[in-house]
Amino acid sequence: MRSDYFRSAALAAFLVSGTTLAQADSLTLYCAADEAWCQQIKTTFEEKTGITVDMTRKSSGETYAQLRAEAGNPKGDVWWGGTGDPHLQAAEEGLTEEYVSPNRGELHDWAIKQAEAAGNKTVGVYSGALGFGYNKDLLAKNNLPEPKCWADLTKPEYKGQIQMANPNSSGTAYTMLATMVQLMGEDKGFDYLKALHANINQYTKSGSAPIKAAGLGETTIGIVFMHDAVTQTAAGFPIVTVAPCEGTGYEIGSMSLIKGARNPEAARQFYDWALTADMQGKAKDVKSFQLPSNKSAAVSDLTPDLSTIKLIDYDFKKYGSSDERKRLLSKWDTEVSTLPQ
Ligand code: F6P
Repeated sequence: MRSDYFRSAALAAFLVSGTTLAQADSLTLYCAADEAWCQQIKTTFEEKTGITVDMTRKSSGETYAQLRAEAGNPKGDVWWGGTGDPHLQAAEEGLTEEYVSPNRGELHDWAIKQAEAAGNKTVGVYSGALGFGYNKDLLAKNNLPEPKCWADLTKPEYKGQIQMANPNSSGTAYTMLATMVQLMGEDKGFDYLKALHANINQYTKSGSAPIKAAGLGETTIGIVFMHDAVTQTAAGFPIVTVAPCEGTGYEIGSMSLIKGARNPEAARQFYDWALTADMQGKAKDVKSFQLPSNKSAAVSDLTPDLSTIKLIDYDFKKYGSSDERKRLLSKWDTEVSTLPQ
């Protein structure tokens, strides 16, 4: 009887410590960049630390929505990647945790500014400019002129030739929406988006899907971050990348620790590692050509040179604020997406 009691007590203790061990050795990662980069990050971190990473890839707006839905019972530990605006919104809404990594001093000013704008509840991990890309074979086959400017994309000859993502799910498309408002003013920006709508053949869920479709010849033009168009060219597809002549917006891809995380230690370990030059320099090996936030990280020759692109002074704080993001998205839903094509 007594020995049975000790045996089951020992078994219970083993199970409890087993559970604790399993938790300390695992990490739930919400990844909002390209699938190949997310996979590389998962396996590299696992090999380096022995911590098992449960990784899910979703678009930026979708990941934000997941954090909100899970706020009462958080399941994720770290949200890595995706455009900065929804990370800022999550910070404002108290969904993410304040943290200053010992590696923060190694970052460019723009990455630190992003952190400071959110009371250190997020940080910049990469940057990249918005633009578009086209399939040069399809363009020639359809006898279409080379588009060079945002204004070109609303011309009637491009009807049904352009794809972009839905700004509710995609950070890329939200960056596009906020860019037009900043570049042209709100009324003209929305007029532009309505005119563009007439030429759109599909609003995709993920931001890079339109240029992958262009690579496969399913659409002629895709509105995407320029680095995503470069990825397709590097993979051998006939894609030309364009920096729009009027100027353009850009993203500060970000990372945040999720509030109420089940594995906070592993989360901070991941966060510190994700700011290192070594981690960020590996992106180019999976054809991800964003500009790294660590000043010493290796940069690919194929990474678009932001200093040669006409960039607007994107107001991240305003367009990442909860009220503004909600207002613009609902205006796009009611005034643009419902129009006939
Ligand atoms: O990894 C490609 C990428 O364009 C990132 O630079 C960006 O942060 C993210 O995807 C945006 O994805 P989505 O538009 O699907 O939210």
